Amino acid sequence: MPPLPKYEYTGPVDCTIPPDRAQLKGKSVIVTGGANGMGESTVRAFAAEGAFVTIADVNDERGNNLAKELHPNAQFVHCNITSWEEQVQTFEAAIANSPNRSCDVVIANAGISRASGDDLWPLDDPNAPPVKPGLAIIDVNMIGTLYTWKLAVHYFRKQPDVPERDRCFIITGSMVAWIDSPANWQYTCTKYGLRGLMRVARRSSWEQGIRINYVAPCYIKSAIRSPEYEAELTRKGVQFAPQEDVAMCMMRLATDQTINGHSLMITPKSVAKEGFKDAEQDDHIEEGYLKRNQETQLRVIEDQWQVGWSKTRTAEGATKSNGHS
Ligand SMILES: NC(=O)c1ccc[n+]([C@@H]2O[C@H](COP(=O)([O-])OP(=O)(O)OC[C@H]3O[C@@H](n4cnc5c(N)ncnc54)[C@H](O)[C@@H]3O)[C@@H](O)[C@H]2O)c1
Repeated sequence: MPPLPKYEYTGPVDCTIPPDRAQLKGKSVIVTGGANGMGESTVRAFAAEGAFVTIADVNDERGNNLAKELHPNAQFVHCNITSWEEQVQTFEAAIANSPNRSCDVVIANAGISRASGDDLWPLDDPNAPPVKPGLAIIDVNMIGTLYTWKLAVHYFRKQPDVPERDRCFIITGSMVAWIDSPANWQYTCTKYGLRGLMRVARRSSWEQGIRINYVAPCYIKSAIRSPEYEAELTRKGVQFAPQEDVAMCMMRLATDQTINGHSLMITPKSVAKEGFKDAEQDDHIEEGYLKRNQETQLRVIEDQWQVGWSKTRTAEGATKSNGHS
């Protein structure tokens, strides 16, 4: 791909430009959680444009059926993203079976919600011993996605940084990274956390030609919640957006090698006619304390991703002098 410039705010992504679909032909794309919901829609849309998609999911039946249906443009790999080893196998399979033996686009989409149970929610008996919570949502959404990121960086850097290839990482986040969502305890922590991952990574990943973007869906109909709850939400005035708009947003990001460091929101068409728009909430544009503080932060932390940090700086960032660190 063309050299990525250092991340700088240059205004919102123009979402009215349609995706350049031809860019997907022959690209190797991993979609975690690709057996259902918006992941599945994304798999279908990318495969239809000639990409080779690796579906990484725990749902063997749906994943295998989808891969069979989309053959030869898709394969299924059983992968629980909380398992480092299963994710390694996924990346290896993506490279081994794709037309150019590459890994170009990684869509970290797998996630679970409080529908799976959130142990931070129950108010336990204050007179009984405290109950240690399970943190499964953190394990999947946060730790699993950090494994995906770490592996994407590894495998992106194994292949030449040339225009025919890409090094594109996309996170499926959520609108809850901007709005308060009572009772969504762990889920909200993870989606804010992943937005944080995008913002820390975009400041360094360009050095390795890796671009990272965040997609924040509003309410989308999927298996993540029950049909009964969906119906109740509709009665309460919630507007759902179609899964296909998520797929189109993913495609816009995956086919424009100049887009780096943005969050795009999926919205109902009444808000943005394309079904998605730049969130424009990740940069300090107005003069003030936060903008000044951001500028200071970028000035004092001068480390380059690898070289600067390991050779001339201590782990906390101080300059090494006279052999003392
Ligand atoms: N549906 C919504 O309203 C909505 C809104 C905002 C964000 N999201 C996010 O979108 C993403 C996709 O969700 P969806 O709504 O399409 O849900 P979905 O349940 O339809 O699909 C999620 C897929 O992820 C898979 N999965 C779950 N745990 C996994 C694991 N540990 N390893 C691998 N695969 C796993 C599931 O088997 C499923 O195929 C999630 O990250 C979710 O948080 C959904």
